[in-house]
Amino acid sequence: MKTTVAFLFGCRSVEHEVSIISAVQAMKAVDKDLYDILPIYVTKSGELYTSDALFEVESFRDLKTLLKNASPVALLRQGNDTVLRFLDSSLFNKKKDIIINVAFPVVHGTNCEDGTIQGYLEFLGLPYVGCDILSSAVGMDKAIFKDVMKSAGLPVLDCIKFYAKEYVADRDKFISAIEEKIGYPVIVKPINLGSSVGISKASDKNALLDAIDLAISFSDKVLVEKAIENLREVNCSVLGDSDECFASVLEEPISHDEILSYAEKYLGGSKGSSGSKGMASLGRKLPAELPSDKTEEIRSLAKEVFKALGGNGVVRIDFMLDTKEDKVYVNEINTIPGSLSFYLWEATDMPYPKLINKLIELAFKRGREKENLTFTIDTNILSNVSFGSKGAKGSKF
Ligand SMILES: Nc1ncnc2c1ncn2[C@@H]1O[C@H](COP(=O)(O)OP(=O)(O)O)[C@@H](O)[C@H]1O
Ligand SMILES: [Mg+2]
Repeated sequence: MKTTVAFLFGCRSVEHEVSIISAVQAMKAVDKDLYDILPIYVTKSGELYTSDALFEVESFRDLKTLLKNASPVALLRQGNDTVLRFLDSSLFNKKKDIIINVAFPVVHGTNCEDGTIQGYLEFLGLPYVGCDILSSAVGMDKAIFKDVMKSAGLPVLDCIKFYAKEYVADRDKFISAIEEKIGYPVIVKPINLGSSVGISKASDKNALLDAIDLAISFSDKVLVEKAIENLREVNCSVLGDSDECFASVLEEPISHDEILSYAEKYLGGSKGSSGSKGMASLGRKLPAELPSDKTEEIRSLAKEVFKALGGNGVVRIDFMLDTKEDKVYVNEINTIPGSLSFYLWEATDMPYPKLINKLIELAFKRGREKENLTFTIDTNILSNVSFGSKGAKGSKF
């Protein structure tokens, strides 16, 4: 019997559309001899739908029609299984529950990639592809991620971080601290967004005030760090788990603007152009043109980052190179990278269908390992307790 894989995508995130592109690409690459695919689209308001139309990006042009013809569904625990239930099943149009064997979240951004969807799947007891709750949550918070990297001895840029509310209460204090400890130019980032949303560079006080206002309109926490002026960006994907992991070849994304913009990352070129190839269509040098010792240094750092975070599945780790100082910094981790970084693995001699098989195997491996741990005690300790009106004296009740 084939394994049923539920692909979950969409969700309440600014990267909703990017997730649709990544998921459709992934579903097309699945080996259909091994797996049955169940596409589950999560709307921006959090409703779940399934339909055969979800296999095509074109279907998402007209969401109203798409949803009118799709079935609303729910995931439920039933005995030892997790099932997909059709909420439009009726006496006259009965639709049977479908047992799901493994979930494959292809979501990007807050409210999903950040541990939210992982928590939902853990709660359902369903094995799933990719990083767990903790590594996903840490990976999404740029400041906590830096702290974890620092404690593992990995190179990150120092930063000043603060809550929007404390900043608004005393702007001068924070501006002075930034000017003294970091100095211009700086980069200001909302702490938990992706795709360059809300990020800007500031070279003087007025620009800094504007940059922070922009960042706090997206997130209640903000970080400020030195802007690297002679910057090269290099990304590396890592695949595996805590037992064994591999680093891909490196890519160097080519930016037209100073900050790699959302349009460049996902629309495949300059602002305003359109396309549907996601991260895979970004202008890049692949492999990055770097001396082989630098390449190996970065690939080895990427594996260390993955291990320090407790990664699982496929991630992409983005590095910044300060070419003037000849320094490498870990910038961020994408725990569910755009296009699942398949183009980096293709360039590392792993075709996309094989990458997907590997990811599903890793999900089952973690699921099996979890099953061997004890989470509940079979005996019901309440069965022998007699309850008085105030509970048994001296017991915890
Ligand atoms: N310290 C920095 N110095 C110079 N440019 C930076 C710095 N940090 C980020 N950038 C630019 O901004 C882009 C987005 O920042 P990043 O931290 O990767 O956030 P996101 O999660 O939105 O991708 C980077 O790809 C890079 O072009
Ligand atoms: Mg980035």
